[in-house]
Amino acid sequence: MIDIHSHILPEVDDGSKNIEQSLEMLKEAERQGITDIILTPHYRHEYLTKKEHIEKNFAQLKTAAKEHDINISLYLGQEIFAFSDMVKSLSAGKLFSMNDTKYVLVEFAAKQEMDISETVYMLKANGFIPIVAHIDRYCYADVETAREIKEIGGLIQVNATPICGSIFHRGKTMSFIKEGLVDFIASDAHYSRSSDMLKAYKVVSKKFGEETARKLFTENAKVLLHK
Ligand SMILES: [Fe+2]
Repeated sequence: MIDIHSHILPEVDDGSKNIEQSLEMLKEAERQGITDIILTPHYRHEYLTKKEHIEKNFAQLKTAAKEHDINISLYLGQEIFAFSDMVKSLSAGKLFSMNDTKYVLVEFAAKQEMDISETVYMLKANGFIPIVAHIDRYCYADVETAREIKEIGGLIQVNATPICGSIFHRGKTMSFIKEGLVDFIASDAHYSRSSDMLKAYKVVSKKFGEETARKLFTENAKVLLHK
């Protein structure tokens, strides 16, 4: 599997607090069958981490992972909370796109309603391809919202964890998958939260077939890795 959304990079946000936690998370990912991970630290008002700091920690983590014989390829991205000057910052190279591609992982507020389509449209118009992070978490986003995003040319990611939850919690996420609106399923792993990629893969495979699971957990993400 390829995990396109994670907070494994140490000391940059509310994810891993140090390199030991990061290595623990990487070993768990490897155990679950993940071969490639895009590290996507938050970029939002509490975490306006400087690019140089992220790059330095990325280099350190890559070295440490190699020293610990962890067989996962690591890439750099960012989970950017939508803001008005986002396009300007991206175009000026102040933020990370996904592995230096035109794909950008964008996050929105969970409760306060935001016009997701407007942001998607603006990014598309400026040559980027937005991936809407965990649409399952926005209480105001439903299947129709997702359809509109796709029509404008945006892509959609959902988290693995709710897929493994109770029927009540999994309902909304499953409805996006059922309608064929999801492009990626990712862990959004934080050290404090469990990563359920393998468990979710099995659920999706059982309910929607192996081909759909492969697409959502692996194949679709290859474009981000230039594979
Ligand atoms: Fe995240």
